[in-house]
Amino acid sequence: MIYVTRREVFSASHKLRNENLSDEENNKLFGKCCGVYGHGHNYTLEVVVAGEIDSVTGYVIDLKTLKNIIRENVVSKMDHKHLNYEVDFMKNVNPTSENIVVKIWEELVDKIPTGKLYSVKLYETENNYVEYKGE
Ligand code: NI
Repeated sequence: MIYVTRREVFSASHKLRNENLSDEENNKLFGKCCGVYGHGHNYTLEVVVAGEIDSVTGYVIDLKTLKNIIRENVVSKMDHKHLNYEVDFMKNVNPTSENIVVKIWEELVDKIPTGKLYSVKLYETENNYVEYKGE
């Protein structure tokens, strides 16, 4: 099995909030990610596709194809947007990195033409990342 990774970057705002909790409880839980308007992050996304090497192309997946799929379905919809208000597939989701990777997985999983989606990794900062493998 071969693992092929495409990295993309995007910038987006988010506001972390659990609507079932009070303002005070939200502030305590989410701190600066929770202000009235939220705030922004420069996110780095890594998408890994796993598969066998095709005997004709020598590829698991053409990285140009993978790049275009990620940009069309994810980056173009999230870059420079407020995740709480402007992204259809993030509606009614508290936009933690954990929830974002699950949603990105759902957007991509059926669109990979060769190989299989193996993992989605999202860096919210250089030192913090979350990874999802579909279960
Ligand atoms: Ni934040």
